[in-house]
Amino acid sequence: GHGPAAGSSRSRGCGSCQQGGHHRDPPLAMGVEGTVREELGSLHGIPLYKSFIEGWPQVEAFQARPDDLVIATYPKSGTTWLSEILDMIYQDGDVEKCQRDAIFNRVPFLEMKVPGVPSGIEQLEKTPSPRLVKTHLPVQLLPTSFQDKDCKIIYMARNPKDVVISYYYFYQMAKLHPDPGTLSEFLETFLAGKVAYGSWYEHVRGWWEKKQEKKLLYLFYEDMKKDPRCEVQKILQFLGKDVAEETVARILHHTSFQEMKKNPAANYETMPTALMDHSLSPFLRKGISGDWKNHFTVAQNEHFDQHYQKHMAGSDLCFQMEA
Ligand code: PPS
Repeated sequence: GHGPAAGSSRSRGCGSCQQGGHHRDPPLAMGVEGTVREELGSLHGIPLYKSFIEGWPQVEAFQARPDDLVIATYPKSGTTWLSEILDMIYQDGDVEKCQRDAIFNRVPFLEMKVPGVPSGIEQLEKTPSPRLVKTHLPVQLLPTSFQDKDCKIIYMARNPKDVVISYYYFYQMAKLHPDPGTLSEFLETFLAGKVAYGSWYEHVRGWWEKKQEKKLLYLFYEDMKKDPRCEVQKILQFLGKDVAEETVARILHHTSFQEMKKNPAANYETMPTALMDHSLSPFLRKGISGDWKNHFTVAQNEHFDQHYQKHMAGSDLCFQMEA
């Protein structure tokens, strides 16, 4: 196989090596090293990893297929959860089939490009239809082919207080990101829209406004936490699929936080350590609504609320900040 397939890097050798600085997974890490903790570049005004920007011409020219389904999110908003749910639906609730590969290979990441790893585009070209396509692109940057082919899109949004906390931990463990600094510094970077993928407001509002003209289902992480059965039914209806009640029950069980956290095909643990270091923070970290309360000071929360009200003014888009 190619790239970071399930069970690839960790199982081989080096059993005694804990976190030694000499540990490498050649040849993968060789290309990756240059991207570690690099400053972000800018793609049409959106801050983004420089290696992704290098691959942009191929992304822009991407040829969608009419039966592609796009999973679009701002980072840390439930992408992996929604991806696992959709793959389970596509595999008719067959848990073993959903363990055929890691989630990042089952649902390729459209704009992903890192040296030494097959790009999202390369993975997608090899993926048989019907394909699930992950993207974090803001709506104005989605390759036009998806619109031309009239592809269905599911967008999932999460409240920004939990997003920023989840993103802060992700910046620490995923080495593609610049150093996040302190939480207080990172909050400012986030509110200023200077994190990867830019302004959360513009992302959630941009996609919300497109909801009229596109085949788009707009979901919320908080709703999925509160009543996953209801949200899965919405997805099934959107896809025009009729699924047996016992299959729905199996999908819900398999995609619960606890099950996904211990599933190597869903929890990103097979991603090379050079890219993600789960000892700093696990990819499936807490999976709750309202964790920001354990992190924000009162002053930070007031500042955030003011910023939020200003930037959400005039929108009918509403977020539940806790469970
Ligand atoms: S990424 O890197 O942008 O694709 O990350 P993404 O998958 O969007 O977001 C990761 C957060 O989603 C949480 N998660 C879940 N929550 C509840 N239930 C399930 N099954 C689930 N799977 C993933 C994950 O824990 C991250 O949130 P935090 O708050 O950091 O725990």
